[in-house]
Amino acid sequence: EQTAGNAVDSRTTLFCVIGDPIHHSRSPLMLNRAFRETGVNGIYTAFHITADKLGAFIQGVRAMGIRGVNVTIPHKVEIMRHLDEIDASAQALGAVNTIVNDNGRLIGYNTDGIGYVRSLKEEAVPELAGKRIVLLGAGGAARGIVYALAEERPASMTIVNRTINRAEELAASVSGHAGLKDVRPVGAFGLEMACRQADVVINTTSVGMSPQTEGLPMDINVNWLKPDAVASEIIYNPMTTRFLREADAAGRRIHGGLGMFIYQGAYAFEYWTGKPAPVAAMRETVLEALG
Ligand code: ATR
Repeated sequence: EQTAGNAVDSRTTLFCVIGDPIHHSRSPLMLNRAFRETGVNGIYTAFHITADKLGAFIQGVRAMGIRGVNVTIPHKVEIMRHLDEIDASAQALGAVNTIVNDNGRLIGYNTDGIGYVRSLKEEAVPELAGKRIVLLGAGGAARGIVYALAEERPASMTIVNRTINRAEELAASVSGHAGLKDVRPVGAFGLEMACRQADVVINTTSVGMSPQTEGLPMDINVNWLKPDAVASEIIYNPMTTRFLREADAAGRRIHGGLGMFIYQGAYAFEYWTGKPAPVAAMRETVLEALG
């Protein structure tokens, strides 16, 4: 089923992303490029699905045999009850961002955390085993990353959150993981101490995402980071945040959030097609779209 570049015909396989809002999404550009690049006869679109239409949407997926769906805000949790099977790691996370329609059986996965980790390893820190990691934030995004990082057997993971209860809950929920011997929750007061010992500091909070939040997460001072530490971000639009700019200016290594977006899509592509994702082409397309 090879075609020269998204020539839609009667055998074309359908894919899409759903969310509310959705029309800002770069996933269609990125995944259609991936299909063209690899000769997959597939087409990927975006649907604006509101919460009250989620069940009807899933019926549509089943009826039309849509092969793959990416799920974004605000449906990553609610979608789960409509699926036939949830992969173990998505189950542990409690959120799904990728659905594979396996001959009518809908299976939920989550590629956000593993996408982030693959990007961090490819682009900044090839070996995470034994590293000391500090996570800023304890929301849904942090959760996916904590679970995926645990697989890499870091020496320690410190979860720093403005609201300490959420850090405690996240730490408790992952503390049984075999790869994580040392996971600690702290409030913002513990940030300096944690940063001084860290090899990687990851911002998973929403601070920096919009002009309204153009601050530094929990008033972090990048000079607390060791000279060879990496400052990492999951925000990719804007491509640099104040946290990354200040870390860069202070001579620290930086790792931006774009790779997480690319690799979460790369994993989805690989689950759907069984082919290695054309990561360089996908990155090129997203960079063009971001201007
Ligand atoms: P997501 O699913 O994107 O992680 P979320 O669950 O709303 O979204 O979590 C947002 C994270 O950003 C939380 O860790 C939040 O801290 P609180 O738990 O204390 O709310 C953090 N966050 C948002 N705005 C912040 C701010 N101005 N300063 C510090 N942390 C902030």
